[in-house]
Amino acid sequence: MIMNELLILVVLLGVTVTAVHSQGYSSISGYVWCCENCTDPAHPFANAIVQVQCGTVVAMEATTDSKGFFSLVLVDGLLNFISSVLNTVVDLRTCTLNVYTPLSQCDATLTSSGFLLSNITSTSQPRVFAPVRFIFYRYYV
Ligand SMILES: *[C@@H]1O[C@H](CO)[C@@H](O)[C@H](O)[C@H]1NC(C)=O
Ligand SMILES: *[C@@H]1O[C@H](CO)[C@@H](O)[C@H](O)[C@H]1NC(C)=O
Repeated sequence: MIMNELLILVVLLGVTVTAVHSQGYSSISGYVWCCENCTDPAHPFANAIVQVQCGTVVAMEATTDSKGFFSLVLVDGLLNFISSVLNTVVDLRTCTLNVYTPLSQCDATLTSSGFLLSNITSTSQPRVFAPVRFIFYRYYV
């Protein structure tokens, strides 16, 4: 009898966890490289701050690890809040990933005057997103 009850409890818990996982949040992850407009795993941009910007709102930020990898998890509550601030339903594919940490921080021969920006794309998994490609934009003064 106790075994049966335990089994039911475990099954119910399993259902709850799955539901939270598929309904509760979206994620964005990818790599930032230490070079202009490039894809070069040999040159990771470590300790870069990656911001998700939706309209005028910076939704969240993360710091890249030693491999240049970042991962952001945006819970539905946050996305709903930003949607209410912007008065439109936020689709992460219309947001951008911005890196204002100067490229000179990872390679002193690169410029300190500019920033990296990438659009966001969907992946084959629902609610999982990735950068399209980081493009370098120079500041003109
Ligand atoms: C992002 O997408 C917009 C609209 O398609 C395009 O104008 C812009 O150049 C793209 N930016 C980057 C960094 O790819
Ligand atoms: C990187 O892309 C930007 C925007 O298209 C361009 O202004 C810049 O010259 C490019 N830099 C290199 C090194 O290709």
